[in-house]
Amino acid sequence: MASILIVDDERSMREFLEIFLRRRSYEVRVAENAVKALEGLNGTEVEPDVIVADLRMPEMDGIAFLKEAKTRIPDTEVIIITAFATTDTAIEAMRLGAYDYVTKPFKGDELVIVIEKALEKRTLRRENLALRRELTKKFSFGNLVGKSAPMQEVFDLIRKAAPTKTSILIEGESGTGKELAARAVHFNSPRAGGPFVVINCGAIPENLIESELFGYMKGAFTGAFANKVGLVETANNGSLFLDEIGELPLPVQVKLLRLLQEKTFKRVGGVDDITVDARIIAATNRDLKAEVAAGRFREDLFYRLNVIMVRLPPLRERLDDLPLLVDSILKRVVVDCGKTIGDVAADAMEILAGYAFPGNVRELENILERGVTLESGPHLTVKSLPQSVVDEVARGRAKGAEPRAVEITTDGVDLEGLLGTYERELLVAALKTAGGVRKEAARLLGITFRSMRYRLAKHGLAVEDDV
Ligand SMILES: Nc1ncnc2c1ncn2[C@@H]1O[C@H](COP(=O)(O)OP(=O)(O)OP(=O)(O)O)[C@@H](O)[C@H]1O
Ligand SMILES: [Mg+2]
Repeated sequence: MASILIVDDERSMREFLEIFLRRRSYEVRVAENAVKALEGLNGTEVEPDVIVADLRMPEMDGIAFLKEAKTRIPDTEVIIITAFATTDTAIEAMRLGAYDYVTKPFKGDELVIVIEKALEKRTLRRENLALRRELTKKFSFGNLVGKSAPMQEVFDLIRKAAPTKTSILIEGESGTGKELAARAVHFNSPRAGGPFVVINCGAIPENLIESELFGYMKGAFTGAFANKVGLVETANNGSLFLDEIGELPLPVQVKLLRLLQEKTFKRVGGVDDITVDARIIAATNRDLKAEVAAGRFREDLFYRLNVIMVRLPPLRERLDDLPLLVDSILKRVVVDCGKTIGDVAADAMEILAGYAFPGNVRELENILERGVTLESGPHLTVKSLPQSVVDEVARGRAKGAEPRAVEITTDGVDLEGLLGTYERELLVAALKTAGGVRKEAARLLGITFRSMRYRLAKHGLAVEDDV
């Protein structure tokens, strides 16, 4: 049974509505003024589905009441009762989130129609919310959010790898969620109850990193006044997250390799082998294979770490996750700052979708946080996006829209050659977007698979057969 709260200082109106609506089988509560109504909302009473409130009331008027009610119970629809003379204020009320208004004098049935519509809206919203919750469950893993194919692959991989003891290497640009992924591995493993120790190899000075990681014995060096346990030891029975592993100096890499192979190490200045049982998760924003080729990273260590490689895609390669990410980040930010911004306006969203996000999800978070702080309305609009982002997108669009500058001198041009180069660029770009799958690349270019195969061969771009 739908519940209605009536707020009206006029006794006859209150009684009329109470009796009339009860007869229509609503559950009805009444309050003789806004203050009392709010007191009721604060208590243990179940929130009403719809509130019918008079606009003109002493102490606190309908507008002030509406604002307060909308912040406390935003899902409850509010209908305003107004005298003809105050319809302007009633319109203002709608701007502030009232569902509708009825003008006095009105018939009971008129009000019932409005109430029924409001209830319908509330039901719809509840269903949407439930659906969204379902989706969020499906489209998230730990704190990672993503429904795009590459993110679903990441989730699958983590789901399979987490329960094992194998080392994991996480590769991805800055802000793509490497640390979140590492946490997801740990907290979905049998070691979840054990420690999750984070070491940022890039943040510890090179001369201290060995002793920080492996600890030291008293007298090992000047200033070593007592024995010290290293971070590796504290990760026993848990996971050790080595962030920015590419920054690890070569001598320390040797020690880490031994730890991976034999599960033992020595403290600095120590003679005894210490055994630890820690799962190693490493992350890097560099191309570690290239580091190996350049002689900056040990090949044997690379292969030890790289048993399972999780590659986190940059945000610009999975823009279909943008709405989902915006939604989940906004929810968090809004709670933090106590505002009621529910979404991003369509034109602002379009700008975000055209942005390259060099700082990936972290940058998106910063943009939204800033926007929410600046925004005073209920939506996040273009004017509260950073100007640099807006400009960047505009520049990119202008460039894309510009016709290619064509100028042919008396020397002439090689039409076939130029077209060939352009074709090759497009093929490579499509393959990249399609993750190397030729069928998908063909679809992206609007050509048949046969034609794709032919063109690839023509440009010597033969790739392995798709499975
Ligand atoms: N898929 C995602 N879903 C939700 N939030 C994400 C996602 N990826 C990243 N984030 C958020 O973005 C921020 C950066 O994530 P994280 O620290 O895990 O990235 P990182 O790859 O370790 O970055 P860096 O290389 O700069 O250390 C965090 O606040 C995190 O909550
Ligand atoms: Mg990180």
